Amino acid sequence: MSDQSTSSSSTEETLANLLKEDRRFEPPAELAANANVTADAYTRAASDREGFWAEQAERLTWDTRWDRVLDWDNPPFAKWYVGGRLNAAYNCVDRHVEAGRGDKVAIHWVGEPEGETRDLTYADLQREVSKAANALTELGVGTGDRVAIYMPMIPEAIVTMLACARLGAPHTVVFGGFSADALASRIDDCQAKVVVTADGGYRRGTPSALKPAVDEARTKTDKIEKVLVVRRTGQDLGDDGWDDSVDVWWHDAVDGASDQHTPEAFDSEHPLYVMYTSGTTGKPKGILHTTGGYLTGAAYTHHAVFDLKPDTDVYWCTADIGWVTGHSYIVYGPLANGVTQVLYEGTPDSPEPGRWWKIIQDYKVTLFYTAPTAIRSFMKQGHDVPDKYDMSSLRILGSVGEPINPEAYVWYRHVIGGDRTPVVDTWWQTETGAVMISPLPGVTAGKPGSAMTAIPGIEADVVDDEGNPVPNGSGGYLVVTSPWPSMLRTIWGDDKRYADTYWSRFAKQGYYFAGDGAKKDDDGDIWVLGRVDDVMNVSGHRLSTTEIESALVSHPKVAESAVVGASDPDTGQAVVAYVILRNEAGDGGPDIVKELSDHVRTQIGPIAKPRQIMVVPELPKTRSGKIMRRLLRDVAEGRTVGDTQTLADASIMDLISASQATTT
Ligand code: WTA
Repeated sequence: MSDQSTSSSSTEETLANLLKEDRRFEPPAELAANANVTADAYTRAASDREGFWAEQAERLTWDTRWDRVLDWDNPPFAKWYVGGRLNAAYNCVDRHVEAGRGDKVAIHWVGEPEGETRDLTYADLQREVSKAANALTELGVGTGDRVAIYMPMIPEAIVTMLACARLGAPHTVVFGGFSADALASRIDDCQAKVVVTADGGYRRGTPSALKPAVDEARTKTDKIEKVLVVRRTGQDLGDDGWDDSVDVWWHDAVDGASDQHTPEAFDSEHPLYVMYTSGTTGKPKGILHTTGGYLTGAAYTHHAVFDLKPDTDVYWCTADIGWVTGHSYIVYGPLANGVTQVLYEGTPDSPEPGRWWKIIQDYKVTLFYTAPTAIRSFMKQGHDVPDKYDMSSLRILGSVGEPINPEAYVWYRHVIGGDRTPVVDTWWQTETGAVMISPLPGVTAGKPGSAMTAIPGIEADVVDDEGNPVPNGSGGYLVVTSPWPSMLRTIWGDDKRYADTYWSRFAKQGYYFAGDGAKKDDDGDIWVLGRVDDVMNVSGHRLSTTEIESALVSHPKVAESAVVGASDPDTGQAVVAYVILRNEAGDGGPDIVKELSDHVRTQIGPIAKPRQIMVVPELPKTRSGKIMRRLLRDVAEGRTVGDTQTLADASIMDLISASQATTT
């Protein structure tokens, strides 16, 4: 394991406590009796994996059927449903209208300002997506061109993604919490020529601007030809905030466009989108997903893991579309399955602490999918707030993004789910495209804290350094042992980095290395423990230590920096930064911590802001010059500093511990 993860004592303790967890929750009898997927699916998938995945692909409507399920002749470069042709937007929208379900609500949109709501049926969605596709074509977007999307959680965001898919123009959605710099570097990397954005979005009742960040990004990259802007907040863009040669209002370009558009079928391997995610180096990776396999994976898992009954369920996933969860479990999976879902623009507890629970009550949500960090923050408020709402409609609760601690799992099930609802703890990644390890709600007796086993069709294991499966009761690295339809195809523009990052660690076995540590319990069930590389998980958001270190050293006063993810009761992990200032910067001045914190905010975005920045005289290094992050984590987590024998200068840790911890 890398230095950062060398099992610190706290991880061991957590693990020991976890494995003492012996509560089990059997599926409710009625759910089990009517479940979409039953226990036999595991054996059927194992005996004929490709046949199983061919059956799952039948969920989609293909223009041309595939002639080969999987081409793995040139690993790690996979092709799924070879020769097949389809249109992803047609599958998510038009086919439901053609099947007579045009009047069915696709999206119950709930705006952040109370009372502002909008319902879109599948027929509405078809018209809107067609109009947007026509408008994007007018703006010069053709098949294969990339489009960046930087938007709040409004229906137009989904419409834009589907319009891109309809045109075969891969989208790259950049989370609104990223800065202009981060937006520009992503646009540059995938050479997006059009950006779709909004004047702003609402955050806790206040309009928060987005368009100025796009303007700033335009000063940092010359790729952007057109910017399409939704008027959401109506805020003043200022005299310099509009450039007629580039900027186009959505209501001018889209509202007047024709609502007729014929979708073209694309090759199953045609790129659908690029999603940037943090890796172990400073530069974010553009994860590429393609069409047929990805859509199959998203639709199948949504059907299986949420036991989706499209005629009666009301589904709600609280993720932002700027993350992969929003892609697979708001847009592609649910809409391919013809679901009715809630889309919410705002924060969980604004303007009132029970906002989420009120939405569940009002829309009679049956399937709910959120992240442990949100559950933990609600736990702090106690059960009085949720108890005020009628949430008896709920039948399944999902969790994603980070390990869910058993107490949060039990609270979620008890207080939100009224002890009726199975909790599906779903492990997956941007790279895997869809859920990989999860209980099945009608089959699995859930254990709080465990993602349990790979779902039917997926083969995962926990292996040791040599790639051998560890025995039950032991820990190691989480791997996927055979290719799957929704797997990433490459890193945009960097096949070598793709092969190196994911497939070189266990090249002999040909396993996909996920970057997570995990443990198999005595029953062989999997407990995911967290990253074993330099990636942190803050509130379920992936952040790279190296990326934040690079941001810090780009500040003129900083000579060196080291960043660690320290455990945090609210956010899972929090960013803690150690910096050495340049000589000429002296002590940095009274505002140094704020200055550095703001700098990280500008370079990456508010989500990367350190919880703590400590100015230190030295960093602990081995004789070969490698920073020992393990020791820095000990300090950050308030533990006695561990073994310092391999340090070039052991006295450094005393200096660091003595340095005044300054909280930002
Ligand atoms: C972590 C989010 C434990 C893990 C879909 C993974 C989890 C990273 C779980 C991917 C879970 C996600 N239990 N850990 N149920 N789900 N993770 O790419 O470390 O944003 O590698 O995808 O989140 O984060 P990403």
